[in-house]
Amino acid sequence: MGEINTEIDMDKLFGEARKAADCAYVPYSKFRVGAALLASDGTVFSACNVENRSFGLTICAERSAVVKAVSAGYLSFKAIAVSTPDSQTPVGPCGACRQVLSEFMEPSSHVLFGGSGSEKVQTTLGVLYPFDSLHELKK
Ligand code: THU
Repeated sequence: MGEINTEIDMDKLFGEARKAADCAYVPYSKFRVGAALLASDGTVFSACNVENRSFGLTICAERSAVVKAVSAGYLSFKAIAVSTPDSQTPVGPCGACRQVLSEFMEPSSHVLFGGSGSEKVQTTLGVLYPFDSLHELKK
């Protein structure tokens, strides 16, 4: 992972995401997710998924983290890590989360995700969410 980016400690960020997953409110799916967002000044915002008995109101961990960070006055993020300890293999952010992340992250921003196994995927938002024609509207 250091080959991709040496300035950002993605393993540490993943550790924060893993801790946040323990707070997940998931009585329906029993599928915990934790996310940790790294702001441009180094501040980390971590959050979990929060489900609701009206299933469509569930908020994913990634969007929880964005809402928490923006509510604290942070609008720009260098990286995000996502931990899904209830799956063996890595689970990437859902489509809705990719769109929301694209509001506050660059296509070159780092995304790391992993499950309970040793396999992790490190990529960029631009790879996960390509051809983002609305990107220009942010400027
Ligand atoms: N979930 C997330 O928190 N992030 C994702 O990217 C995928 C899905 C949550 C939503 C729901 O609480 C549970 O995982 C099962 O879909």
